[in-house]
Amino acid sequence: TILVLDFGSQYNQLITRRIREFGVYSELHSHKLSADEIKQMNPSGIILSGGPHSVYDENSFRCDEKIFDLDIPILGICYGMQLMTLHFGGKVEKAKNREYGKALIELSHDPLLFQETPNQQTVWMSHGDKVIEAPATFQIDATSYSTPIAAMSDPKRRLYGVQFHPEVRHSEYGNHLLKQFVFAVCQCTGDWTIENFIDMEVAKIQEKVGNRKVLCALSGGVDSSVVAALIHKAIGDQLTCIFVDHGLLRKNEATDVMKTFADGFHMNIIKIDAQDRFLSKLAGVSDPEQKRKIIGNEFIYVFDDEAAKLKDIDFLAQGTLYTDVIESGTETAQTIKSHHNVGGLPENMQFELIEPLNTLFKDEVRELGIQLGVPEHIVWRQPFPGPGLAIRVLGAVDEEKLAIVRESDAILREEIANAGLERDIWQYFTVLPDIRSVGVMGDARTYDYTIGIRAVTSIDGMTSDWARIPWDVLEKISTRIVNEVEHINRVVYDVTSKPPATIEWE
Ligand code: XMP
Repeated sequence: TILVLDFGSQYNQLITRRIREFGVYSELHSHKLSADEIKQMNPSGIILSGGPHSVYDENSFRCDEKIFDLDIPILGICYGMQLMTLHFGGKVEKAKNREYGKALIELSHDPLLFQETPNQQTVWMSHGDKVIEAPATFQIDATSYSTPIAAMSDPKRRLYGVQFHPEVRHSEYGNHLLKQFVFAVCQCTGDWTIENFIDMEVAKIQEKVGNRKVLCALSGGVDSSVVAALIHKAIGDQLTCIFVDHGLLRKNEATDVMKTFADGFHMNIIKIDAQDRFLSKLAGVSDPEQKRKIIGNEFIYVFDDEAAKLKDIDFLAQGTLYTDVIESGTETAQTIKSHHNVGGLPENMQFELIEPLNTLFKDEVRELGIQLGVPEHIVWRQPFPGPGLAIRVLGAVDEEKLAIVRESDAILREEIANAGLERDIWQYFTVLPDIRSVGVMGDARTYDYTIGIRAVTSIDGMTSDWARIPWDVLEKISTRIVNEVEHINRVVYDVTSKPPATIEWE
């Protein structure tokens, strides 16, 4: 394992990411980890990340200085290098201004981390303070115009520091540098794969759960599907899943989830047909926020009702990802893991949480899913909101309108798949605005609904652009929707980015 200590840099997830790509397991932890705790973890190497502070700030993040005596190789990046410098008696100059962007460095000799790379290379700088005097035992490995000590090392003690960010792609040989640290210095083997992650995790789950029972809310989404498959592999029938069909799912989704997990994996699944319960609560409600609230609350009621009927459940499984953990801050991650009462379960139900994906990134979860035999269409499923089709029928929801959205959405998905565009478009779906317009069909005048097509490209859903679907594909979709879906006489394409629009219409 390579341990990355977090000093708050926006790039620190990337470091972990890169190292895992080399086949070496890596975890990001709070800088508050003590030297004893680190020793227990027995990492092959430690990376001190960058951070927004100056080492001279009053409340700047510090690490346990005893880590420098553990005889574990350390690479300090940016802020991490400055901490190392202060500890060993070098000098850090407080910044007058920041250096941000590409810079050219020149190697001073043939340092280990830069072996076999050109004498001059581009790196990515993002720092205020800088090291102006290396500690006595350190040699200078590289310099740049504005940073006299861009890289330094004490190879005997296996200590390395770089002022720039090797984890950022703009650093030309950054990956090479990290590899050199991980393999040449830390002597890692590079045999970490998703397969041995499965073995490790299965063993951990078995040990933690013993002969007790686990409950999982299965939604058919990527994360909950993969969690269920993994836990099922570990403990089989000791896992019970609850799948709530709220009647707001897409065409064939409920049958598909049951076919995959109940028939395919032979999992214990309780399917709750709660369509009537949800639809009656939603009847006549047209305010989007109120609709969302009703669905969210009802979901918890339904889940709780069912969970309360089960006996002797000790654990609740959650599809929490590494990014969720990191986003809530590595400092607080520990406490979130143990006691958060997720999903608003009743106070008197005491579950321990089990979150086996909380060290994985989304693409690793997908790979894990594939390895566990979860079908591709689930592993690559596009994001689907909890309130489901109810927020794609604008205004009050009823069965007829849900059917219109469900059918048109199925046609859209089919044609996007036929055109081979599934992985290029982040999300694509249809919406039913609460308006009607005039059309002509055969020789008759029609007065019917309009379907809107929403298709966007995005990295994380926070911002998005409308997808440039080829016109002939749009034409096919439009023709099919008007011909095959009753009460639709017009199809429009949403050409707004986010912001100012949101991806969903409600
Ligand atoms: P918006 O519409 O806010 O959506 O641009 C951003 C992303 O979030 C999804 N979304 C939801 N997901 N529960 C969810 O689990 C929700 O209530 C919800 N609302 C929006 C949306 O589909 C898009 O991917």
